[in-house]
Parts: sequence; structure tokens; C-alpha cells
Amino acid sequence: LVQYSILTSVVLKLHYWVFFLTTLLIFQAEIDVAVQLLLKLKTDYKHLTGQDYKAGCPPPENVVNQDNGAATDGIDEEDNVDPWNVSTSNAKGVDYDKLIVRFGSSKIETELVDRIEKVTGQKPHRFLRRGIFFSHRDMHQVLDAYEKNKSFYLYTGRGPSSEAMHVGHLIPFIFTKWLQDVFDIPLVIQLTDDEKYLWKDLAIEECHRFAVENAKDIIACGFDVNKTFIFSDFDYMGSSPEFYRNVVKIQKHVTYNQVKGIFGFTDSDCIGKISFPAIQAAPSFSNSFPQIFGGRKDVQCLIPCAIDQDPYFRMTRDVAPRIGYPKPALLHSSFFPALQGAQTKMSASDANSSIFLTDTPKQIKNKINKHAFSGGKDTIEEHRKFGGNPDVDVSFMYLTFFLDDDEQLEKIKQDYSSGALLTGELKKILIETLQPMIAQHQERRKQVTEETVKQFMTPRPLNFKL
Ligand code: TRP
Repeated sequence: LVQYSILTSVVLKLHYWVFFLTTLLIFQAEIDVAVQLLLKLKTDYKHLTGQDYKAGCPPPENVVNQDNGAATDGIDEEDNVDPWNVSTSNAKGVDYDKLIVRFGSSKIETELVDRIEKVTGQKPHRFLRRGIFFSHRDMHQVLDAYEKNKSFYLYTGRGPSSEAMHVGHLIPFIFTKWLQDVFDIPLVIQLTDDEKYLWKDLAIEECHRFAVENAKDIIACGFDVNKTFIFSDFDYMGSSPEFYRNVVKIQKHVTYNQVKGIFGFTDSDCIGKISFPAIQAAPSFSNSFPQIFGGRKDVQCLIPCAIDQDPYFRMTRDVAPRIGYPKPALLHSSFFPALQGAQTKMSASDANSSIFLTDTPKQIKNKINKHAFSGGKDTIEEHRKFGGNPDVDVSFMYLTFFLDDDEQLEKIKQDYSSGALLTGELKKILIETLQPMIAQHQERRKQVTEETVKQFMTPRPLNFKL
């Protein structure tokens, strides 16, 4: 009898737990469905009103596209995007539409691309035509002002973590050069050698040397020396009282709690990291460069950058009105995929994950043939029968970045999808696109002398009218 009652009790407990766990599992599945639904509703809401959905806030009457903070986090667990890490479990790469919702920015719609074409009278750059720059903040306002003859300036940058730059690093610079040309405006480029010193195991001198070396590759993109100021933080910060004053102003108006929330700093991060975001924010304000803007603090800034830099500028846009400055506008690019696939961005520390600006034609050929992740089928027969998948094929992705001819690109896509074009043939097209492009870059870089670098990096007036 005793044993029987113990058994009954065990069985009862078992029933109870099975029931409990099953309920829990069903509940979990429901949560997942609800989260998906919520995400979709938020995207729809944003699409309709141009604004982020904020719980407990009815839609405003005048639905204009305006600023917003980061949307509720934690919805998407598979994509990880911040200034130091980018990863996703999806072979097509990061889900950028979700990122727009999460970061609270706006999608670059065809309408905006058409407007840029109308305002500049130039065919939009392929990065715009193909959605490589896919997200923005306040670009319509910049164009409204530009149409009323109120000009603006460009600000972009690079963290010089090594001497070696790869093709992915050129994306923001190629695009910024185009913007400078079509809008005819001044540009400042920040080389954050201080940032790299704080984050990496490098000496100050090394970081500074990388800044100067990287400046040569940047100059080789063709920037106009009369309209461009390139600066190393180590050099410029200490020489410009106005710049440093802005840094401290920003530091006074952002709390530790805020940067902790935005960047995920912890108690064991050094205080240099915690205060660094103010240094990346400062060039967004025109009076940080009195030699260029003559002390004016109201010149609008536009920042082209990869989307992982957005946290810095969310913070910047948040403090701007509180210290009496206009908020910088932004254009965000997607990431350039590693040769091994779009799950991560390229790493300068893995020689086989990227095409470097110093690679020889032979290295380019070998790397692409050996390492470029293919969306093709395993055998030629299967490939001919079922076709390849350009959406996960890295060679095809690279062509969308660098092959300018839209019709040719579309034909390649169709032929690859139908199986008419084989992986080897696709790779050959990419190799023949990149080899001359890199060779020309190397040729232009060779022309950049120490004297040229010094010219670009000397604080001086620039030539433009506002
Ligand atoms: N933090 C950036 C990097 O590590 C460098 C940077 C500074 C930057 N200012 C910028 C990038 C403005 C884009 C726009 O690469």
C-alpha cells in the first residue's frame, strides 16, 4: 500500500510537470508568433506614418517623417549589429528592414532616390539605385534646404586599426566622393586613431601611423583637396580649442547610463571608451571647424556611414538640440559581405576573408576562385537543371557593389538563376571587374605623396559657398 501510494504520488507529479511543460512550450510558440506579428505591425505603422510606434502614444495629427530614438530592442535575436560586432545566422545577410525598425531610421524609398536625381540633375549612384545605401535620417530635410539654396557639409570617417584596407572599407568613401561631386560641398573625414588605441592592443604611434597610411587610400578615391579636410584625432583634437569645447559640451550632456544603454559599456570598460562617443560626435557640428566654417554653428551636416555606426549618431542627434546645434542627417549603407558569406562583414585580420587594396591580380583571382561562397549547385548537371541562387552568392553580391552597368547585372542574375551561367563563369566576371579596379586604385595611391597627405591633413579654409 505504501509503495502504491508513492507510485500514485509520483505519477501525479509527473502528470503535473508534463502538463506544465507542454503549456510552457505552447506558450513560448505563441510568444514567437506574437513577436513576429508585433514586428510586422510596427513596420506597417512606420510605413504609414513615417514614425516609430511608441506604446501609449496615439499617432500625431501631422504625420511627417521626423526623428525617433531606437525602437524597442530584443525583438530580433539572430542579427547582432553594433559598432564592434556584426553577425547574423542568415546566409542572405542581415535583415535590413528589421534593422530600420529596430534603429528607428527611415527606409530610402524610390521616391527619395528620384528626388536626389531631380535636385542634383545626376543619375543616382549605383549604391542608391540598388539599395546598398538603404536607410536614412532627415535626408528629405537636407534636400528641402538645399533646394532653397541652403547648403550643407559631409562628414565621414574611419577607424585606422591596421595598414591594410580592403574593398569593403571603400564603400562609404566611394559614395561620399560621389556626394561631394554632385552637391559640390565641403567634406571632413575623421580618422579615429584614438578610438583604435582605446579598443585594440596597439601603441599610440602605430595607430597614428595607420591613420596616415589609410589617409593615402582615402585620398586615392579622388577627393578634391580644395574641399576636403582629413584629420587624425590625435593631431586635431589637441590643436583645436573649438573642437575640444564641443567634445566637453557633449560629454556634459550625456550620462553614463545613456552610453551604457546605447553601446553596452560595462563597469570594467576603461573611461576612455566611455567618453569616446563624444569625440566621434563632435565633427557633426560645424563650429568644430572654425577654419572651414568661420565659427558658424548652424551649417547642416550629412553623415554617410555603414549602419553599425548609427549608435554614435543616435546619441549625437539626441544631444544636438540640447546644446543648441542642428541634428546631423544620415545615410546608412548595408555591409560588404566577407568572401565566405554574408553572415559577417569582412575582417581586416583575416587575409582570406577579403580582397585587399594591395592584392595582386593573381591573388584576387585565387581568393575569389577558392573562397568566394557560391550559390551554385554541386554539379554542372544540377546547376543547369535547377539554376544557382544569386541571393546567397558572394560573387554576385560583389558585382552588385562594383559592376556599374544595370542591364549587364540583371542579365547575369537571370542567367545565373536559370543555370545558363555557371559559378566559374560568374567568378570570372567578378575577377575581371575587380582586377582593373584594384590596379587603378594602386596606381592612384602611388601618386599620393607625403606632401599631398600633409595638404589634406592641414587645418585650412576650404573652397565652397554655403
Ligand atoms: N568609428 C568609425 C570606425 O571605427 C570611424 C568613424 C569616425 C566614422 N567618425 C565617423 C565612420 C563618421 C563613419 C562616419 O570605423
